[in-house]
Amino acid sequence: METEVINETLTESETLKTIYERRAVRKYKDRPVDKKIIEKILDAGRMAPSALNAQSWKFYIVTNKEIIHSFSKAITKIAAKEFIKAGRKKIIKSIINLFHFSHGLHFPKTTDHVFYEAPVVIFITAPKDNEWAAIDIGMCAQNMMLASKSLGLDSCPVGFGKYIKHTKLYPQLQIPSSEEIILSIIFGYGDENPEVHKRIKKNATFIE
Ligand SMILES: Cc1cc2nc3c(=O)[nH]c(=O)nc-3n(C[C@H](O)[C@H](O)[C@H](O)COP(=O)(O)O)c2cc1C
Repeated sequence: METEVINETLTESETLKTIYERRAVRKYKDRPVDKKIIEKILDAGRMAPSALNAQSWKFYIVTNKEIIHSFSKAITKIAAKEFIKAGRKKIIKSIINLFHFSHGLHFPKTTDHVFYEAPVVIFITAPKDNEWAAIDIGMCAQNMMLASKSLGLDSCPVGFGKYIKHTKLYPQLQIPSSEEIILSIIFGYGDENPEVHKRIKKNATFIE
């Protein structure tokens, strides 16, 4: 599949500039994020569209370093167990996914391969019976990540975060049994400038 870097310097619109500049950041400064800023990011998420205006997202915010670290450790352990259970092929595939080598070799710059020592982790849940949940939460998540970029922070969606459910630490999140984690996102002051990955361009069909 043909790809190219879409990395224009857009001055015509602040929104477009933020969209183009947002990157998945996996290295953070050891600097806490003010609660008021977290509230602004949450509000941006709340402003997302949702099917039937259900606004079914719920946010579980973790800023305690020790808790985040223990979550990362527990998730890594669960992932390791899954690798052992799976065959050799699957093990390699999972490792590629876990460390996100998908766009070429990318070696994580921290020892925390799940939440990358970010100061804020937000778990977003939705009711288990909501057929639109994945789409709603995707929109909400993107709003939050763009808002954070525009406020001088960076972020990274962490799909692996939901595996916290399979660890004994899950009750700490106080998520009711009627809800499930759809996505977790890390936020913080980035300490790297990742290169822009090439995008597939030949995926649009104009029906004229
Ligand atoms: C649903 C979803 C789950 C993701 N999960 C992870 C993850 O577990 N760990 C990680 O490092 N990056 C994760 N990412 C980030 C992607 O790897 C990243 O967005 C992609 O490589 C494109 O890079 P960019 O965001 O800098 O443009 C995830 C992204 C999405 C949308």
